Amino acid sequence: MSEIILEAGEFGHPRFVASFNINSARIRELAARGDIGALICGAARAVVRTSLSVGLRRDLTLHHPVHAARCPFSLRIASAEDLSKVLSLSQPGLSLADQQAISLRMNHATQDLGRAFVAIQADGHPCFIQWVLSKADNSRIASFFDGRFPPLNDGEALFENAFTPPAFRGLGIMPAAMSGIAESLGREGFRAGLTFVASDNTPSLNGCRRAGFHPYLLRRDISLLRGLFRRRQFLAADPTIDGGGIQWSQ
Ligand SMILES: CC(C)(COP(=O)(O)OP(=O)(O)OC[C@H]1O[C@@H](n2cnc3c(N)ncnc32)[C@H](O)[C@@H]1OP(=O)(O)O)[C@@H](O)C(=O)NCCC(=O)NCCS
Repeated sequence: MSEIILEAGEFGHPRFVASFNINSARIRELAARGDIGALICGAARAVVRTSLSVGLRRDLTLHHPVHAARCPFSLRIASAEDLSKVLSLSQPGLSLADQQAISLRMNHATQDLGRAFVAIQADGHPCFIQWVLSKADNSRIASFFDGRFPPLNDGEALFENAFTPPAFRGLGIMPAAMSGIAESLGREGFRAGLTFVASDNTPSLNGCRRAGFHPYLLRRDISLLRGLFRRRQFLAADPTIDGGGIQWSQ
């Protein structure tokens, strides 16, 4: 690794100073392979990174028909034991992304931030988890999630950090559980359910759609120079057109 320092004037700002760690071994490897495309893409990613998330909404005053999961379950608020099982890092089949997803949710579980619902199989084993947050959580949502969600209004519930352990995926648990939680929140008096999903997370987008959620907002995060400069935009989503990688029709 070596370091490049950009100083005064490089970006037209008199006091701009930035340092970059350069993985010279990787650059030499790509150059030796003649992989100029990968070199350019890697350099561009180090400079600017854009991510797009879709905000989805469900009217909780309406019933939404959903297919039953291919594995029966009941819903309850997670106990400490449920959390330790569903978020176990020693469960089989975890990818690196799953391990990161679990760490994030374990961190969430240590905060007093909303309610964690779990889906429980007939044998008592938890097979899905998702948090629900409300307006009372607004200030902690802003700090814990770093402003990724607009503040909630009265009657709005934010569905966050869904996770199905790998052993239970593809059984339709997410849409059925999310819909079950939505129905119970409707009975509590909540009027709208909101959730945000990365635009490339197709399993989650499909699950949300099956649970009756529809796109209403797009969030675009642009990070320049590894987060030195950041910009976040919320844009109204048009559910009838392709919203940055998602095609939504119903
Ligand atoms: C997204 C997630 C919650 C979906 O849970 P789920 O209970 O498997 O949902 P479903 O059964 O409806 O499956 C959703 C899709 O994932 C597919 N899938 C993903 N991984 C799978 C696996 N290991 N085995 C089988 N199917 C899988 C399913 O086939 C299905 O595809 P389809 O929409 O084309 O039918 C789960 O994949 C997960 O926990 N991912 C990691 C964390 C995450 O992304 N959370 C959401 C954050 S917004």
